[in-house]
Amino acid sequence: MQVSVDVYSEKASCERLLSVHRWTDKLLTFRTTRPAGYRFTAGQFARLGLEIDGEIVSRAYSITSAESEDELEYYAIVVPDGKFTTRLDRLQPGDAVWVEKLSYGFMTADRFTDGRQLWMLATGTGLGPYLSILQQEDVWRKFDDLVVVHGVRNRAELAYADRFAALAARAQAQGLPARLHYLKSVTREPGGEGVLEGRITTLLRDGGLEQATGLVIDAAQSRFMACGNPEMVTEVREIFRERGMTPLRRTGGGQFVTEDYW
Ligand SMILES: Cc1cc2nc3c(=O)[nH]c(=O)nc-3n(C[C@H](O)[C@H](O)[C@H](O)COP(=O)(O)OP(=O)(O)OC[C@H]3O[C@@H](n4cnc5c(N)ncnc54)[C@H](O)[C@@H]3O)c2cc1C
Ligand SMILES: NC(=O)c1ccc[n+]([C@@H]2O[C@H](COP(=O)([O-])OP(=O)(O)OC[C@H]3O[C@@H](n4cnc5c(N)ncnc54)[C@H](OP(=O)(O)O)[C@@H]3O)[C@@H](O)[C@H]2O)c1
Repeated sequence: MQVSVDVYSEKASCERLLSVHRWTDKLLTFRTTRPAGYRFTAGQFARLGLEIDGEIVSRAYSITSAESEDELEYYAIVVPDGKFTTRLDRLQPGDAVWVEKLSYGFMTADRFTDGRQLWMLATGTGLGPYLSILQQEDVWRKFDDLVVVHGVRNRAELAYADRFAALAARAQAQGLPARLHYLKSVTREPGGEGVLEGRITTLLRDGGLEQATGLVIDAAQSRFMACGNPEMVTEVREIFRERGMTPLRRTGGGQFVTEDYW
């Protein structure tokens, strides 16, 4: 979406880039100031705007920070020739980043009213929402098992691995009951120690995810989130349906909720 700065400033707040951490030449974590009064639920996304050639170009970004943090954090890929991300890649701390005043999205853990396992499937930057969700204590009390599956092309793209270890350690220290299973998988090089090989969809179908966690997936206990590549999302929805699962409904019932990134 592209709009004039004047029009955009009615619904967005002009914030500042605080920091950028580069995981690879095209994967980065960045933080901005948080608009006064900004509210979101872990799992939701912000809409961010950058001024490019006198107009605002806006894009959706999942929030990776905790609901209570003073700053907002996001995990992003620089898309080849991407309008927004080519500019994002060049920003320096202190530069302006517009943040729309409303938060968006329905992929939040509080929507699940039952189930014992929460599976959080992500390709690439689709990991973002789970980083926020796992910083909320509620989810660690609500489920027995929390499973993050991060599928990427190459090992270097397995960002945030240390963060998951820290989250698990913190939860244990706080006596929070859930167990965290953090699974990594690569598709374009050998996995090596502790890293699975193959697409998430393949590992779902052939039982690789169940084997790696020791959990059994079934409609009564398992709840799913899937986020990232839209083709992955479409395929996992098909797999869930084949297993008798349905999308989460506002009126109750259902096992999965998904988010396409493009
Ligand atoms: C609900 C929602 C949440 C999103 N959250 C994030 C996020 O947290 N982090 C993030 O990096 N992006 C996220 N995106 C994608 C983001 O909004 C932009 O599409 C992305 O920044 C590219 O914008 P661009 O103008 O640079 O490229 P464009 O010129 O708009 O290029 C779009 C193309 O880039 C590719 N692409 C876009 N996003 C991704 C991606 N994340 N990973 C791999 N390929 C991609 C696809 O091939 C797509 O067709 C989200 C999108 C949606 C709809
Ligand atoms: N320049 C180009 O020609 C070109 C082409 C493609 C992408 N790109 C860019 O490269 C970047 C790719 O980003 P990315 O690697 O984070 O995202 P990605 O292409 O979505 O890949 C992330 C992971 O998702 C897997 N995946 C893809 N489709 C799937 C499906 N249908 N089911 C299950 N898993 C699936 C991939 O497996 P696989 O390795 O098996 O695909 C990979 O492990 C984007 O910026 C994109 O625009 C560029």
